Amino acid sequence: MDSLSQNSSAVKFYSGENIPLELHKVRIVQKLHLVPIERRLEALYEGGFNTFQLNTTDVFLDMLTDSGTNAMSDKQLSAMMIADDAYAGSQSFIRLQKAVDDVLGKKYLLPVHQGRAAEHILGVAYVKKGSMVPMNYHFTTALAHITECGGQISELLYPEAYKIDSDHPFKGNMNIEALEECIQKHGKENIPYIRMEASTNLIGGQPFSVQNMRDVRAIADKYGIRLVLDASLLGENAYLVKQREAEFKDKSMAEILLTFTGMADIIYFSARKLSSSRGGGICTNDIKVYKELEALVPLFEGFLTYGGISIREVEAMAVGLYETLDETMISQSPSFIKYLVEEAKKLGIPMITPPGVLGAHVDAMSFCSHIPQTQYPAGALAAAFFLISGVRGMERGSVSNQRDENGNETYADMELLRLAVPRRVFTLSQVKYVIDRLKWLYDNREMIGGLKFYYEPPVLRFFMGKLEPTSDWPQKLVAKFRADFGDSL
Ligand code: F0G
Repeated sequence: MDSLSQNSSAVKFYSGENIPLELHKVRIVQKLHLVPIERRLEALYEGGFNTFQLNTTDVFLDMLTDSGTNAMSDKQLSAMMIADDAYAGSQSFIRLQKAVDDVLGKKYLLPVHQGRAAEHILGVAYVKKGSMVPMNYHFTTALAHITECGGQISELLYPEAYKIDSDHPFKGNMNIEALEECIQKHGKENIPYIRMEASTNLIGGQPFSVQNMRDVRAIADKYGIRLVLDASLLGENAYLVKQREAEFKDKSMAEILLTFTGMADIIYFSARKLSSSRGGGICTNDIKVYKELEALVPLFEGFLTYGGISIREVEAMAVGLYETLDETMISQSPSFIKYLVEEAKKLGIPMITPPGVLGAHVDAMSFCSHIPQTQYPAGALAAAFFLISGVRGMERGSVSNQRDENGNETYADMELLRLAVPRRVFTLSQVKYVIDRLKWLYDNREMIGGLKFYYEPPVLRFFMGKLEPTSDWPQKLVAKFRADFGDSL
């Protein structure tokens, strides 16, 4: 019975209840802090209504990101103890190289300290003034590095990708016709590479299909342009291919991953996501590419056998890469996200559908339809949700956008509150708490007000920026919470 699906959603309950089941046990725990709402109000003012600026002693469920916050396995932790600290020629690196070859099918590996370091190196090596990088959708740091090097991007998705409520299985698909038009318009000589991001981080964690990548590959071949795959969330993207793309229903995770990676000339990833560890990497089978990038790693990151990563994390990364092939592991986060999204939708809460990867995404444009984009509805919703629940999500909307070259504000295609569900971190009762508090806030949504910047850094402003509420709406929300919940935490 080896063919039976080994994922968290595959276990049927006698009662008929449809819930994901944890296929792991918890052996190390960390205490959480659920502080009173009055303290959370103070924390918000201290942190400039920016959830990046909160202290974890004030946070109950940390759903800011899955980056570096996935639970590690016992095997990863024990591998860390056998790390070979040698500056050069480290056996830990040899083990990582082998894992990259086995799992991603690439022989040459350049380690870097995290995903954006890979974006930096690719930018320095290939992007210059006048360059155009077509992609399915941007990620904040990918865009920042390309523009820093003088390049521009073109986002080429199908219209379905921008629909909040949809049943399209692959909203992350690249628009093939638009890709060909873009190449003809800008000239292939100005396109250093095409970038495919496995699951559109900023617009709902939506995957692309193998067929779509085959079509992109065909265009790349036709024009002789390199194809770069951002594989940070490739594991979950491959899992959703198994669930949603008929051709791959009975294929193993290993086969699906290699089908994807075999089509990319260059792969880069944040190991904080892929492999549930730290660090990152760039890998390829093309010796020419390797040679073009090789010198940049010791310059910016560290020697070629550690790339700025702690050597213990190199060991954890190698083991984590193999664990990406384990469906019981890789299914856990998407199964919990599916549960969260579907239950919230049943209560009328506007969510991005179909459920994707990384987290559940609440549509702030609709949740807070009374707040204009100039007052950052997603930022306001993230702050309000933290206030009334202690759950820290992340703004993925206009605050996360960067100003254009003339310094004008650019408004995001979507205003989202992202509630990340890192792998094997939260329990189902915690997810139920999230849904419960979301519903209360939804019923009181008219009370949420806008935000405005009082400190706005020039680059990646969402990390360090500080905002303030446009009125005393947070105090009113606290009063309503107390009226409804009495002395509950
Ligand atoms: N690419 C994608 C698709 C990402 O999601 C991230 C990080 C990066 C690149 C950059 O990697 O953080 O290791 O430098 N995403 C995190 C998030 C930060 O919260 O979504 P990094």
